[in-house]
Formats: sequence, structure tokens, C-alpha cells
Amino acid sequence: MEFLRVDHGSCTGCGMCSLACPLHLIIQEEPGATPLARKGKEDACIACGHCMSVCPAEALEVGELSADRFAPVRRELRISPEQAGQFLRTRRSVRSYVDRNVPREDLLAVLDLARWAPSGHHSQPVRWTLLATRGAVLTAAGHTADWMRGMVEAGDPRAEALHLDGVVRAFANGKDLICRGAPALAVALAPQPGGHAPTPREDAVIAVTYAELAAHGLGLGSCWAGYVTFAAQHHEPLRAFLEVPDGYAVYGGIMLGRPSFRYSAIPPRKELEVAVKG
Ligand SMILES: Cc1cc2nc3c(=O)[nH]c(=O)nc-3n(C[C@H](O)[C@H](O)[C@H](O)COP(=O)(O)O)c2cc1C
Repeated sequence: MEFLRVDHGSCTGCGMCSLACPLHLIIQEEPGATPLARKGKEDACIACGHCMSVCPAEALEVGELSADRFAPVRRELRISPEQAGQFLRTRRSVRSYVDRNVPREDLLAVLDLARWAPSGHHSQPVRWTLLATRGAVLTAAGHTADWMRGMVEAGDPRAEALHLDGVVRAFANGKDLICRGAPALAVALAPQPGGHAPTPREDAVIAVTYAELAAHGLGLGSCWAGYVTFAAQHHEPLRAFLEVPDGYAVYGGIMLGRPSFRYSAIPPRKELEVAVKG
């Protein structure tokens, strides 16, 4: 199969596929000409799909990508700048959840949208462990509390800095400050540094951020699970419970659930700090 397959009847020679390719694998020798693949460079294709997504005539296919896997952009769903601004400013870290499990398909819909998070060299290295019931989340919180207790008992300076003794005590008294009573928890895994992905930590953190925004858009609340993420980097029983494969690390995680209340105002944040040049 040819690497670049152009339908000469539909190609208008606009050249946008060539402009969109991040690796300059598609060339247009002169304005209006049909695009060509740069010879011998096909293996460098990262299958990002930009060339096919940009083509207004659906005139090309590249590598393993086939046109039937591309969805049309529905212009009628575009949001206004005001809507985009309010959407981003109204995402809150939710720490109070309705005590009811969320249907699995709703949780999976959140993680599904995070597939469109950017990743270094389009390596898409992120995978998830989803704890879909309050019982499973409580088990993860329990392992986290065990690890924290060990830190407190060992006099680890991080235990004091992070007030872990109070969190451990609260957990023993039935108050879950670790996962905040959430009925679901999703942790993002990616290869340890040095593996096949060039930027695994960044990719996982960005995927978690996408998932937080996706949850917000789909009517669910979320909150970074910082304690669980931290513990999962050190505590073997928690890693085993989260089914972290060999060679993988936990780089982030979020609690998920139906918020038990909604915010009616947007809190202030630090002023923008930016050095503008040029
Ligand atoms: C890396 C990271 C770890 C966090 N860990 C926790 C956590 O363990 N528990 C928690 O309640 N909030 C956690 N948060 C949420 C922050 O406290 C929250 O984002 C911040 O207070 C701002 O509130 P907002 O997200 O509603 O704007 C974490 C946030 C980040 C980015």
C-alpha cells in the first residue's frame, strides 16, 4: 500500500496537507500541484492525522489511517469565546460528592475524551486504572493512609510539611480527606522515564487535566488525587491494587463523582504574570 494515497479527481491542490504535516513528510512542489510523499521518510510519520483532517476535499489517506475513522467537525457545536471563558473558569476541585456510584459509561465517557489530550511526539502513552465504586476508592484510600502512617512514624519531614498525621487520624475516624468520599477514582499511568515515550509525565498530567475538563463538561465533579498519586509512586500494596504494570508509573489521578452542590460564583485568582516582548 502506498504511504500517501491521493484521489487526483478530488484533490484541489490547495497544499494545506503539506502545511499541516508537523514532520514535513508531504510536499507540494509548486502551488496547485498534487501533494507527494517525501521519499524514504515515511517511517517518520507519527499518524497525527492532521493532513487528512485539514483536507476539505477528503482527497487523501496516509499510512495506516483510513478516512472512515475521522469524524466531521460539526460547526453548529462551536462555542462562543464567552462560553469558553466561563467553562474554563468554572471548573472547581470538587470535594463533596453525592454518595452514589456513577454509571460506568459516564466515567468511561470522561476518560474517552482525554484521548484527545496532546502527547509528546504523539506517542499517546497514557493508560488508566479506573476505580468505579466507592468501595474500591476506599480501599485505595486505605492503602494511601497506610503509607502516610509509615511516613509519620518514620519522622519523614514530608509528613509534617503535608500534615499527614491529621489526614491519617481523620481517616481512622471515618473521615476521608484522601479521596473526599468520591465514588470513583481514575489514575493515569504512563511508562517510566527512559521508556518508549519521550514525555510520559507531561502526557499523563495533561491527560488528567483533559479528564478534569471533560468531567466538568459532562456534569461530573473531579479533584486531583494528590495524596493517592504520591503514595502510588512509593507504596507497593497500592501499586498492586491499582494494577500498575512493570515499567509504568502513576503520574496523576482524579476523584470523580456527582458534586453534592454547585458553585454560584467564580473565585478570584492571582493576577496574570507575563513578560510580553516584541
Ligand atoms: C497536582 C495537584 C494535586 C492536588 N491534590 C489534591 C488533593 O490531594 N486533595 C484535594 O482536595 N485537592 C487537591 N488538589 C486541588 C487543588 O487544591 C486545587 O486545584 C486548588 O485549590 C484550586 O482550586 P480549583 O481547582 O477549584 O480552582 C490538587 C491539585 C493539583 C494540581
